[in-house]
Amino acid sequence: MSKGPGVEKMFDAIADRYDLMNRVMTFGQDRRWREFVVASGGEVGRGWVLDLACGTGEIAAQFKRSNPNARVIGADFSRNMLTRARQALSPVGLQFQACDANQLPYRDNTFQAVSFGYLLRNVDDSLTVLKEVYRVLGTGGRVICLDTTPPARNLLYPFIHVYLAFVIPLLGRLIARDQSAYAYLTGSTMDFYDADTLASLFEEAGFAQVSYKKFMFGTIAVHWGTK
Ligand SMILES: C[S@@+](CC[C@H](N)C(=O)[O-])C[C@H]1O[C@@H](n2cnc3c(N)ncnc32)[C@H](O)[C@@H]1O
Repeated sequence: MSKGPGVEKMFDAIADRYDLMNRVMTFGQDRRWREFVVASGGEVGRGWVLDLACGTGEIAAQFKRSNPNARVIGADFSRNMLTRARQALSPVGLQFQACDANQLPYRDNTFQAVSFGYLLRNVDDSLTVLKEVYRVLGTGGRVICLDTTPPARNLLYPFIHVYLAFVIPLLGRLIARDQSAYAYLTGSTMDFYDADTLASLFEEAGFAQVSYKKFMFGTIAVHWGTK
């Protein structure tokens, strides 16, 4: 069975508390990672930018702040996330659309940059989505992916494990009033590709110059590449 309907319902349910929960569980660092995502997209001038799985639109908004002339679209399949994004960001010139990352409603070679934050863990097949992103990017366009990544088994691992397995679900219960959504975050992180394997999937999708940087004790990775 596809993950899609359950994931969509889960994000609809936590949309109201999503930003607050991000701030708290990342100690405010999530903003810095989004800035890094946008900086990794390079100079986009007046080009078209797609922020896929935009959620409340924070990466899309950062793209617009850094590239005021760019035409930025945020796309997601959660209605409640899109409602929040539109309320906050349509007045500053961002457009938002409902769509499924597995089948993008855009022509080939449309965008100069495509970003997505915390998407790939939530889809059935990352490679399908990466190929779809490759299709809609123009030649020379940049893909940038922000996601959690399974922590390495080093000296820090026991502390990171306690944080992921116990603290995050507890914060989810107290702040987002949804423990299971944040237990899912932990489970899907532990089950997700390690950063090297994910980089090789980007290459398999066709991207060149693929690289990545880790943050937050190796639990967050930003990958990028070029079409
Ligand atoms: C954890 S949120 C990330 C939001 C935002 N990118 C950020 O950086 O905060 C994941 C988002 O991905 C969206 N999503 C998951 N699977 C999707 C799919 N197949 N198509 C479109 N959106 C999807 C969810 O609705 C949710 O808004």
